[in-house]
Amino acid sequence: MTIYRGAIVDTSGDPFIDGAQALRADQDGGLLVRDGRIVARAAFHRVRAEAPDDEVVTLAGGLVLPGFVDTHVHFPQIRAVGGLGMPLLDWLEKCALPEESRLAEPGYAAAVADEFLDGLLAVGTTSALVFGSHFAAAMDLLFAGARARDMNVTSGLVVSDRILTADLLCTPEAAGQQSADLIDRWHGQGRLKYAVTPRFSLSTSDAVLSVCGELLDGDITFTSHLNENPAEVAAVVSLFPHRRDYLDTYHQHGLVTDRSVFAHNVHATDKELALMGETGAWASHCPTSNSALGSGLFPLRRHRAHGVGVALGSDVGAGTGLFLPKEGLQAYFMQQLLGADGSALDPVQLLFLCTLAGARALGIADRVGDFSVGKEFDAVWLRPADGSTLAVNLRHATDPVDALARVFALAAPSDVAGVWLRGAPAATTSSSHLAGGPWPPVPWPVRA
Ligand code: GUN
Ligand code: ZN
Repeated sequence: MTIYRGAIVDTSGDPFIDGAQALRADQDGGLLVRDGRIVARAAFHRVRAEAPDDEVVTLAGGLVLPGFVDTHVHFPQIRAVGGLGMPLLDWLEKCALPEESRLAEPGYAAAVADEFLDGLLAVGTTSALVFGSHFAAAMDLLFAGARARDMNVTSGLVVSDRILTADLLCTPEAAGQQSADLIDRWHGQGRLKYAVTPRFSLSTSDAVLSVCGELLDGDITFTSHLNENPAEVAAVVSLFPHRRDYLDTYHQHGLVTDRSVFAHNVHATDKELALMGETGAWASHCPTSNSALGSGLFPLRRHRAHGVGVALGSDVGAGTGLFLPKEGLQAYFMQQLLGADGSALDPVQLLFLCTLAGARALGIADRVGDFSVGKEFDAVWLRPADGSTLAVNLRHATDPVDALARVFALAAPSDVAGVWLRGAPAATTSSSHLAGGPWPPVPWPVRA
């Protein structure tokens, strides 16, 4: 067994409902981990008393947080980040889709899969709902890579039968057969799950959406895009004249359930939000993508008012990086600009959006998303470099909420000092900080 000692911070519930009470923070905390699972959690000295002979890994400085959960990120677009200045449909045509076509070549896809998965781990993301490739061989490479790294990856073959370039299209029969084969090969292997993934209704006819409905079974996830951009919404509505709205194009095929995660939903109607609330469908909010493509300001409070769960997605390559706290900060900025009801997102809500909310959206919150006893130890240690603005700021934090606020304002990928998957250090992160650092870490003053 191993005791992880540090400033341990997580959310035990939903701060949009429970307020700041959802935050748990142990300044000098201990997590006792056996076979990748948390078996005790308390102040360090108490955990130590329980396990006096076990190894102690001291994570001095910064915060130890649950591994981040990215609920919308495109594996074939990791090399396409940075295409700025275009709205969605132009960006897809000029930037994203030409790159996605290159994954037809397995050698190319293998390199991209490694870059993508290592990129996620390097920024502390241990779980992700990954928007896949149009090519089954590329999906095998992604799944194999995620399995080898022991990551919680939910993903699936992207299917489409119109609008896109011909190389990215398939027939309804091929969509069904290739998806079913991938489900057989990968769903339930290690921590992998399958997600049925039509690209969006614009590129997917009723015939393929119907096949998607047939594939949804058991705990298979469904994911797609929804209401991202006004021109896209108008095009979908004109292609489906008999549907009530964009969401209805999915709903008619049984694709709106509590295992559904819809990316964006910036331009949602009240009727759509009501249906999502009734069915338990989730929205993946992708703030840097919505900003970069000029898609609009996500109505987060309206989602929550309709009972719709919201988590965060980086939406790389339209999003501007994989580091989820940056999405949290951008979400905060955008809600400030929206000014809906005057209530800003607070730091506890931002932590929840980056961790437990995502785990709930992916249906894996029984295993990960926080540091409750019984859960798997997936963690990220944010430990700012000495002399950095974040290091200076953390010394002046007055309490855990204040420490979190400073982390969301200032943290960068270079502050990721360690990442663990079920108790095993991720190969891509350095453990150079592990030996050093004074104790106590003092991210906020100790209260008497
Ligand atoms: N809608 C359909 N495909 C995509 C994509 O790759 N990125 C984004 N942001 N929206 C999409
Ligand atoms: Zn997307």
